[in-house]
Amino acid sequence: MAVLRHLISIDDLSNETIREIFRIADEMSKGLRTTKGLATGNILATIFYEPSTRTRLSFESAMWRLGGGVISCANMRDSSSSKGESLADMVRVVGGSYADCIVLRHDLEGASRVAAAYSNVPVINAGDGSHEHPTQTLCDLYTLEKEKGHLEGLTVTLCGDLRFSRTIHSLAYALARFGADLVLIPAPGLEMPEYVLRALQSRYGCQPDRVEASEFRQLAPSVDAVYLTPNRPHQLSLFTKPSEPHHLPDLVKKIDALYMTRAQDERYGALGTQADLPHYPVVDPAFLQSPRFRDTVVMHPLPRRKEISYDLDRDPRSLYFKQAERGVPIRMALMAVLLGRLTLETADTLPPPTPRGELYPGKLGVQCGHETCVSHVEDYVPPLFEILERNPWRLRCVYCEREKVGRYVASVGGRVAHPGQAPEARRIKPANLIVFEDASQAAAAGYTISAKDSDAASRDSEESSAMGDDGS
Ligand code: NCD
Repeated sequence: MAVLRHLISIDDLSNETIREIFRIADEMSKGLRTTKGLATGNILATIFYEPSTRTRLSFESAMWRLGGGVISCANMRDSSSSKGESLADMVRVVGGSYADCIVLRHDLEGASRVAAAYSNVPVINAGDGSHEHPTQTLCDLYTLEKEKGHLEGLTVTLCGDLRFSRTIHSLAYALARFGADLVLIPAPGLEMPEYVLRALQSRYGCQPDRVEASEFRQLAPSVDAVYLTPNRPHQLSLFTKPSEPHHLPDLVKKIDALYMTRAQDERYGALGTQADLPHYPVVDPAFLQSPRFRDTVVMHPLPRRKEISYDLDRDPRSLYFKQAERGVPIRMALMAVLLGRLTLETADTLPPPTPRGELYPGKLGVQCGHETCVSHVEDYVPPLFEILERNPWRLRCVYCEREKVGRYVASVGGRVAHPGQAPEARRIKPANLIVFEDASQAAAAGYTISAKDSDAASRDSEESSAMGDDGS
């Protein structure tokens, strides 16, 4: 029987298991004070390299309520990592005899995947850089289903910083899987990353079309809007009447939920801060008074800044404090399962561990290069890619999921690098394969560029720098 070992991505859970966790959470919330005993003798370690209030404290509260104990390092920058200790060593020690479960928040994408690889005990991803935050998604879905009665067929708008919000990425995958329609309203410059859009399309048949930027004056002038409908592509402008900012065209008959996020400006670097973003969307009572929003619930993972007006807090459509409150029973349910204290009835629906495709260990050739990917920063982490396509060679880093395109391939021990589409390329056994980003990388590794294509080599080399990364 399949066992849930870790929770790294929302894709580690089937829809059935998510529903089962909700059922257990219902039971837990009935007896928040009486479930003591379920995890007696267990110790949770909360290891946070980034700030947190809700996620860390709700995990800790959940463990106390289950009857276990907690050890915590809330500011790992004050720990031995500031002396240069690696994530792998830290996890081996903490998951050795100190704790039975690790909740990890880290600033690098893919950090929880690396931690899980070195840990003897379950690892729960409490946010890895801008990548994923699966337990927040459980709280979000649980709340949404409670309020709306179902998830299938809901229309949910995701607003604000769609580029760096890990809560948005995990939620978008889950909503697409449950058959909700997504409307993306990114702040300018903070659009959903290409790698997320491609995953939505390839994994869930969600075919996104970016539409023209349109004025939506009072919400966010000059926002880009993308309308995504799983299995049903659309190419339509959402906001057709800039002079009537509260009027949406009839296409969007209803908006069931508006999920807002704050500007994740701790990740912006040269982009600046929220104060430098002129058109960040804001939801306030005036905006919500349109009849179209009568039944629209407003959600936010918190913390908020100005993107949700405090004047909305008493509005029954505002759910953000309920999302936070439900974090405790949801995390109680999840930990009881991961610690083996409860057995999943839906274990046979657990998906195979991610990544699922054929893997390419990029020892030589293509490297991830995404600057906040754990494989780029922690130098003992071996590069590893999932092969998405062979012509062209499209690879996805298993840690941060950014994609790379390989234009030349060669064989270990060989001397010639062939263009990716050449028949010779297809004959190389996967175990011997080396994928190069371009001709210059192959030449630097000592390979001769196939004579057939040497004219194209320099051209490809120039093009690949524009095409190789997904730019997010
Ligand atoms: C979120 C996070 O850390 O990604 N917070 C949370 O866990 N509730 C959202 C955020 O920080 O904006």
